Amino acid sequence: MAEYVKTARDGGVATVTIDRPEALNALNPGVLKQLYEALCRLDDDESVKVIILTGAGEKAFVAGADIAAMAAMTPMEAKAFSTLGHRTMDKTASMRPFVIAAVNGFALGGGCELAMACDVRIASVRARFGIPEATLGVIPGFGGTQRLPRLVGLGRAKEMLATGRQVKAEEAYAMGLVDQVTQPEALLDVCREKAGRIAANSAAAIALGKQAMNSGVEMTLEHGLRHETGLFALAFSQPDQAEGMQAFLEKRPAAFR
Ligand code: CAA
Repeated sequence: MAEYVKTARDGGVATVTIDRPEALNALNPGVLKQLYEALCRLDDDESVKVIILTGAGEKAFVAGADIAAMAAMTPMEAKAFSTLGHRTMDKTASMRPFVIAAVNGFALGGGCELAMACDVRIASVRARFGIPEATLGVIPGFGGTQRLPRLVGLGRAKEMLATGRQVKAEEAYAMGLVDQVTQPEALLDVCREKAGRIAANSAAAIALGKQAMNSGVEMTLEHGLRHETGLFALAFSQPDQAEGMQAFLEKRPAAFR
């Protein structure tokens, strides 16, 4: 099988590139499986603190699920494809390392869904977001109907669903779909700079904090606060807590593991 997912390492930062530019990095079953496996390996490697996820080529982050692969699917095959997509998106969303989407171009359908599963999205001014599935006679199947309304609100999500239109990076930023917009040539440097800052902090604390937020937004405030207390206590079982607080008291930078 072709190698669709490339991983490069620079200290605690891993860059994962979806490399199928001839199809604008569209997600077929092979890409989804390889991405899942690459993410599992990075999740298991404690030296990885931050992941930058991007697409190969000038044009696309990911232009969606592979339409050619879906065209002749039966309903049961479509269900299996959606489940495979969810497995990869859910893995992305629940990773121990912090995951930055470096959105370099089209992030449509499954590409928008993948970007939304990342912890933050940094986009080039050239990036275009959208869920155009209604133009194909289907609905988003890799989490878009659930993650988009949670990020931008129900009205905006429904408008994007119904029109299928492409949203430019600046508008995506204004609606909360994107967290930062850069010039195309600066995108990877901006992501690396952000990754470096994150990697200097406690990876254990960031993982616990992400867990508190990811679970908490699905809970009542009361349950979320109780969940937070448990995870706050858990942070005190980690060596980083002693090091971080000792370093502050000794007026020196912390040296986290
Ligand atoms: N699946 C399969 N192939 C794709 C693709 C996709 N999602 N997107 C682009 N490609 C292929 C094109 O077929 C084309 O291949 P050929 O050169 O072999 O013809 C190649 O990538 C380049 O694409 P275009 O020539 O179309 O490039 P363009 O610059 O004219 O247009 C585009 C770019 C607007 C992104 C256009 O390619 C497009 O509309 N793509 C489809 C976007 C889309 O509908 N995505 C949602 C898919 S459905 C989904 O994702 C469902 C889900 O949630 C599970």
